[in-house]
Amino acid sequence: MAIIDGKVSLQHVVTMESLTNEEVLGLIQRGLAFKWGEATAAIDQPVYVSNLFFEDSTRTHKSFEMAELRLGLNMIDFDAKTSSVNKGETLYDTILTMSALGVDICVIRHSEVDYYRELIESPTITASIVNGGDGSGQHPSQSLLDLMTIYEEFGRFEGLKIMIAGDLTHSRVAKSNMQILKRLGAELFFAGPSEWYTAEFEPYGQHVALDDIVEQADVLMFLRVQHERHDGNGHFSKEGYHQLHGLTQERYHRMKESAIIMHPAPVNRDVEIADALVEAPKSRIVRQMQNGVFVRMAILEAVLQARATK
Ligand code: CP
Repeated sequence: MAIIDGKVSLQHVVTMESLTNEEVLGLIQRGLAFKWGEATAAIDQPVYVSNLFFEDSTRTHKSFEMAELRLGLNMIDFDAKTSSVNKGETLYDTILTMSALGVDICVIRHSEVDYYRELIESPTITASIVNGGDGSGQHPSQSLLDLMTIYEEFGRFEGLKIMIAGDLTHSRVAKSNMQILKRLGAELFFAGPSEWYTAEFEPYGQHVALDDIVEQADVLMFLRVQHERHDGNGHFSKEGYHQLHGLTQERYHRMKESAIIMHPAPVNRDVEIADALVEAPKSRIVRQMQNGVFVRMAILEAVLQARATK
């Protein structure tokens, strides 16, 4: 893990904690350069990438594909629903196989937290692992696109007041963002149902009422209520949640002039954010999706750099 010849070099990208501030800022700069039209470097030998998504995804899966196409990489199709996973093959044996076939980079989303650990420690698997989300663990490429979007807006992290509100317990986005944002000098606040603010969040910021932070925050980051990770017990009122914990028109008008709205998406419209505000002037949700392609190009480039200098 390092910066080599001014370029970030990473064998694997699995957590935000494993990246230095210098590497994070380097990836953001490369993402911005790609966005501003920087040409991709010529690749002197074929590189094979497989996107292995064992959980549903639109943004992460398709923006990795777009990033791979823009970089001129070769994609090896993988569909978990028609693979030998259905015959009981484990994730480890699936990746061992892809690596043996000559796949250089495996982008993986899987429901098991820390699934990547045995893959990156394997002496036999030679493919680089890029984590596209592990259960409620980490989502580093989402975190990097969030950071790129904040940096593009404000040009800094130091001193920004950033609120993260919603389904904290199940959110790999919150867990990926909290440590790095604090490390980069932002001041964090958590909002939403207090039962979802558990001890693991305390070192990074205090829990506050949304109505107490909405006028002060520079960034209001809302999280999706992840019904698929809830046990289904108990009544959930969309309207009740929206009024208590969501971005309503009334709260929108109390935001600072310069403040922005973020959400990793998919958005539950009229739950976390009022339908009409998802594409409102202060919303950066579409920009987050656009930036996802460019920051994922930067991530893949960093992995290629490490593999070229190994
Ligand atoms: N934000 C995000 O990870 O979206 P997908 O689940 O569609 O990839």
